[in-house]
Amino acid sequence: MSLDTTTQPTADRPATSLAELREQLTLEEKVSLLVGAGLWSTTAIGSIGLRAMYVSDGPAGVRGVSEDGSETSASFPAPSALAATWDVDLADEVGALFASEARRHGVDLVLAPQVNLQRTPVGGRHFECYSEDPVLTGDIAVHVVRAAQDRGVGMCVKHFVANDSETQRTSYLAKVDERTLREVYLAPFERLVHDAQAWSVMGAYSGIDDGTTAAPALEHRPLLTGVLKEEWGFDGVVVSDWVATKSVTGAVDGGMDLQMPGPDGPWGDGLLAAVLAGEVDEAAIDEKVDRMLLMAARVGALAGQDGAGEQRDQVFAVDVADVLRRLVGRSMVVLRDERGALPLVEKVERVALVGPNAVAPFVQGGGSAYVRPDRSSTPAAALREALGAEVSVHAGAVSRMLPPQLDLAGRCRTPDGRPGALVEVLDAAGDVVESHVMTAWNGWFREPAPQAATLRIRATVALEEPGEHEVGVGTVGFHRITVGGEVLSSAEHLVGAEVILDSSVNAPTPVVLKVRVDEPTTIDIDATVQAVHPVGYASFARAELVHRTPGTSPDELLAAAVEAAAAAHLAVVVVGTNEEIESEGYDRTSLALPGTQDELVRAVLAANPNTVVVVNAGAPVLLPWLDEAPCVVWGWLGGQEWPEALGDVLVGRTEPSGRLPWTLPADEADVPVPDAIPVDGVVDYHEGVHVGYRSWLRLDRTPAAPFGHGLGWTTWEHDEASAVVEADGSVVVTATVRNTGRRAGREVVQVYVEPPEGTPTGDRPVRWLGAFAVVHAEPGTRTTIPVRVDARAFRTWDTERSGWVTPPGTYRIRVGRSSGDLRQTVEVELQDSVATRPDS
Ligand code: BGC
Repeated sequence: MSLDTTTQPTADRPATSLAELREQLTLEEKVSLLVGAGLWSTTAIGSIGLRAMYVSDGPAGVRGVSEDGSETSASFPAPSALAATWDVDLADEVGALFASEARRHGVDLVLAPQVNLQRTPVGGRHFECYSEDPVLTGDIAVHVVRAAQDRGVGMCVKHFVANDSETQRTSYLAKVDERTLREVYLAPFERLVHDAQAWSVMGAYSGIDDGTTAAPALEHRPLLTGVLKEEWGFDGVVVSDWVATKSVTGAVDGGMDLQMPGPDGPWGDGLLAAVLAGEVDEAAIDEKVDRMLLMAARVGALAGQDGAGEQRDQVFAVDVADVLRRLVGRSMVVLRDERGALPLVEKVERVALVGPNAVAPFVQGGGSAYVRPDRSSTPAAALREALGAEVSVHAGAVSRMLPPQLDLAGRCRTPDGRPGALVEVLDAAGDVVESHVMTAWNGWFREPAPQAATLRIRATVALEEPGEHEVGVGTVGFHRITVGGEVLSSAEHLVGAEVILDSSVNAPTPVVLKVRVDEPTTIDIDATVQAVHPVGYASFARAELVHRTPGTSPDELLAAAVEAAAAAHLAVVVVGTNEEIESEGYDRTSLALPGTQDELVRAVLAANPNTVVVVNAGAPVLLPWLDEAPCVVWGWLGGQEWPEALGDVLVGRTEPSGRLPWTLPADEADVPVPDAIPVDGVVDYHEGVHVGYRSWLRLDRTPAAPFGHGLGWTTWEHDEASAVVEADGSVVVTATVRNTGRRAGREVVQVYVEPPEGTPTGDRPVRWLGAFAVVHAEPGTRTTIPVRVDARAFRTWDTERSGWVTPPGTYRIRVGRSSGDLRQTVEVELQDSVATRPDS
């Protein structure tokens, strides 16, 4: 593709005007445009009316760009919850919500969605991804991106490509053969370029070895320039992941367009010099500048272009609470409901609400996706309102290994008595160059003064409850921590870039002081930590302040919960993970529920058969008691409206009509890809195209619940199905479903494709998702709907011919309720097709 804007047909603005603008820029200005001005902004160039563009994470809301951690945002359900609705109309609503939140926070480009795949259930960012399936991922993402961009807000699709796990995330090389890349990992990106015209793509930290080229993702010319830009015609901006740029010329040649953050770093420090030295051609710079200007025009950042200014200030009217609450209620997946317990139709008087996550729900995963929620509420309050019952709350188990974050606003005072902690930025001589009172803490990820050398954090912590408190501070690298006058820890060493980078999303293990308190007292924290420019150009430091109030032992907690459950008319047990378990920055090491939660579930089930178990987790966890529990609902990481949505689901205001977008294992030993630990720096995608449920089918292993499973609260028959092959090779399946239960509900009609028998199809999956559609039906009614399986669903990548082929033959189209519950089969005959370009 040529990006000569004089001939660029897809530009939103008169092409010549962008080319003319570029011609007005000096080389220095052009280079500055390709390097961030700071952590979250691009460079403004007043002479051409270009203002700075603001970018912000991320997949579960729009965090905003303020520096003191006080900015709040609508906290969305984790992306996997959206995918669990299998509902593209809801994806449209989420896209509109992204736009409205972006406007509210002054953001032009949202760093989302993440369309990497859930290759292994232990992946740390599993909750940030949509699904283990490329079609479900692509369909949901296309609607999110379109809906946001239609409102003038850009979306940055990430992380290109095969960045599906976190262990050694900034350095590993994903070894993926070309066919697997094409059919599985590139597929959602391709959809987003073709079907949603995504304005931006983020290049990953990790690298790719596709069998011919092994390079960091940002330097992988065959994929970034060859496939993404030239073959697919992507006309947007390739943004580096944060601090991922490793070179000047390698990344220029590879196809990266914008280095983030800036203003220093490899491009900030070296790109201009490389052009002047003739190592980088100015034409390559121009091509990237054109992309930046096109994006600026698209988001309204160029004065004189349509929509500039007004677009940015326009806030779209979206009823945020309504969308989020409906979305998360609908996303919940009924894994089991043996007695038809849901919804609770009879009034209950006494409810025992039990579980660590009932006390402290885990509504969003850790890392860059985290936003400070606009509001928070408790499951107890929500259930009291929904059920009109007396609700007692009991943790029942311990699930966190580390003490939780210290409540700065509620429990701390600065040395001069203000609520919060005093954070001072010191220079090398120890003089204060900046000072802040922090009432909320997200580590420290901002741009301190250039002369900053260390951060000093001081707070007086009130310890009022009698018993043993734990107070601690976690840091990375050089630090000195005193708590209550006692030096808890000190280390003189500075640490390397990767450790600092990962620590920005991965809380360092704190050193903890135990303090026994008989009468209310206070204790002083004084911590000094390494602050500055540790990665050459990213400026941040990490410190974590933690505190645990005196508690009772796990045995005492369990006994109290069981007693309450036995005395209640209904027990609702909320178990799950927490930010120690699910976060960017590391992969999980176990699929078990943390702590003593399995024991808790079993004990409550024994004490009260009228029990509903809710799993508050994003990624799969083992549920060894699943067959013993009458009613189990997968509740996701549900964002700020989660407690209310849970109330809606229990009393029948919203149907939990979700279907699993991934496979739930019964046993860790069965998981086809149990980890992604690099061996000699390489993660080998040995399972090839058999991602997720495709491997389970191929290996003939039985999970606890298959991909696509979910019961809802009514029952369905799939009466008949037929299929017609269209001229373009697509297949239109007509499915008829009947709601055989007593309530109106939603069915997700899932259409799977099976390859022809005995034809030389290569190593094709046993079955794969072709298309899906959501049907809403009243009880006793039949509904017939068309479900279009795109021609792309049948093709396979022919490496030798370097093109897509559809092997001819009889394909079996299976229509059903999940990948393991198929109700109708139709056969279609397809002719051979060869295409060297995706859509030709
Ligand atoms: C993550 C990205 C994120 C960026 C900015 C990186 O660590 O990988 O997904 O958008 O930080 O926060």
